[in-house]
Amino acid sequence: MEKIELQPGHFSLPVKANLVIQHCKVAAEEICSHSDDYGGIPEFVPADGLTAWQLLNSVVRQSLPGRELNFCEWGSGTGLVTLLASLTGMSATGIEIDEDLIDLSRDVSRQFSVPASFVHGSIYPKDNQNPLLDYNDVDLFFAYPWPSQIVKMIDLFKQVAAPGAIFVCYHGGRNYRVLQR
Ligand SMILES: C[S@@+](CC[C@H](N)C(=O)[O-])C[C@H]1O[C@@H](n2cnc3c(N)ncnc32)[C@H](O)[C@@H]1O
Repeated sequence: MEKIELQPGHFSLPVKANLVIQHCKVAAEEICSHSDDYGGIPEFVPADGLTAWQLLNSVVRQSLPGRELNFCEWGSGTGLVTLLASLTGMSATGIEIDEDLIDLSRDVSRQFSVPASFVHGSIYPKDNQNPLLDYNDVDLFFAYPWPSQIVKMIDLFKQVAAPGAIFVCYHGGRNYRVLQR
């Protein structure tokens, strides 16, 4: 596994991507203020939409150009990053452990007519009876892990990703690391 030094580019934000970002921002604020209604998600923290948009586009153009791509978000929250990935042209799937967030993501996907799959369950294969997704088919993974999950997710990436696959591990604000298997 190697670390990729990404040169972040600037990519203009399509109107629909901006609408999705604004909608998910309001939804995330709502979740934070009513966390009991969302399975008591502790300190739900969403990614910054504009940073995610720049990151996704930069990785795709610099490291995975010229082919159809499968994207998977580990812990997709409101669906924001998975929907942005779909808007870059990738076939996008989000996996999320909280069922209410899955329902919310599917609503946003429908409302803005952005195709994406949202799968309810744990990203860790050992937690599920049946596999939720074939990770071997995924070209680009994205996660914004809780601090306690960072090492575990990097280990998961090492174990399940196909050679050449990329993992954008986002750490909040404009902080991230990009790893390639
Ligand atoms: C910090 S939030 C980030 C949400 C989203 N990725 C974003 O950037 O806006 C972490 C998310 O991971 C989800 N999560 C935590 N553990 C999980 C697991 N084992 N499987 C699937 N989702 C998980 C949480 O419910 C939460 O929605």
